Amino acid sequence: MKFGIFLPNGSNGYIISNAIKPYLPTFEHNRDITVEAEKQGMDFVLSMMKFRGFGGDTGYWDACLESFTLMAGLAGVTKKIGLIPSIALLSQHPAYVARMIATIDDISDGRCSLNIVTGWNKPEYTQMGLWRGDEYYDQRYQYAADYLTILQDLWKNGRTTHKSDFFNLDDCSCLPTPGREIDIVSAGMSPKGVEFVAKHAGHNFIMSPTAKVKEISESVKAKGKKYGRDVGTYALFQIVAAQTDSEAFEYGDHIINEADKGAIANIIGSAELDSNTSGTSDHLKAALTLGLEEGNMAFMGMPVICGSYETVAQKIDNIAEETGVDGMLFSWPDFVEGTKDFGQKIMPKLKCAN
Ligand SMILES: Cc1cc2nc3c(=O)[nH]c(=O)nc-3n(C[C@H](O)[C@H](O)[C@H](O)COP(=O)(O)O)c2cc1C
Repeated sequence: MKFGIFLPNGSNGYIISNAIKPYLPTFEHNRDITVEAEKQGMDFVLSMMKFRGFGGDTGYWDACLESFTLMAGLAGVTKKIGLIPSIALLSQHPAYVARMIATIDDISDGRCSLNIVTGWNKPEYTQMGLWRGDEYYDQRYQYAADYLTILQDLWKNGRTTHKSDFFNLDDCSCLPTPGREIDIVSAGMSPKGVEFVAKHAGHNFIMSPTAKVKEISESVKAKGKKYGRDVGTYALFQIVAAQTDSEAFEYGDHIINEADKGAIANIIGSAELDSNTSGTSDHLKAALTLGLEEGNMAFMGMPVICGSYETVAQKIDNIAEETGVDGMLFSWPDFVEGTKDFGQKIMPKLKCAN
């Protein structure tokens, strides 16, 4: 089982609630988390990319450190941990991204992967004149497949000629190459997203209640086999752990009770525009009324593993056994403390970690 961290490179991390003091993302904070994660033996960190936040009382995600440049900085201060920047596809040309990954892979001595984000939030792109029209909602995995073909060609051969509905590259050169295959992950859980991962990527990242995690994890593996590929799933959770179960649940409920309703309404407003069904956007809409452990919007729709350190360890083992996931990606209301507690008080109790 691989364990990773969903870094808080957007303001307030993944808590949309007045229960925490709002904070701006900084390199110092993300560095402290990553260095602690490496010390505790965790496997990877992933940073996201948001070009426009959701406001509200807390200014949710209004500030966001850029994903690739953050990873380049983290590469310089770590030695072992895996680094996964996220590309929001519409924001950068693939030849530029191929070069950024080759550069971070060089700085980190071969520790860089890539998270493909097709993008569901139109206002981020219309503000820059980069939205391809509303047909992009349904086209986005075709676009992703085309984009990835270019990346992989450039990484393998250092040049490509590629003419398609979306791109026009003419003997495009991109050197140096990483000199190895770059792991591709994709955070998509709609049927089209699952199909994309089965065909093109190594893993998907999903946020869903446990039963759906199992369903998607099995589906991506089975579809991968169909294409002769070995594909896995990493599930996303928040951890709220304390000395006792009641202390942890009290804090988790407090976060939900103090939810930043304005920011959440803005997220749902964007999710409602997305015509690609049964994926992340539909989950976010459902998360308005889901409970703490199923993934409430106060926790950005991520299911919370809640309880004493003992209980949390037990629950992680149960999820591992029930769902067959290959990895878990965590975030916390307090990341540095949470990472340290995970390594010292939870990981040693886990059967699935060994
Ligand atoms: C681990 C993880 C990371 C994500 N990172 C980003 C990101 O950086 N930027 C973004 O806009 N969406 C991000 N998302 C959201 C999805 O990638 C995005 O909504 C995608 O378009 C969903 O596709 P789907 O409809 O197939 O679920 C992330 C989701 C997960 C689970």
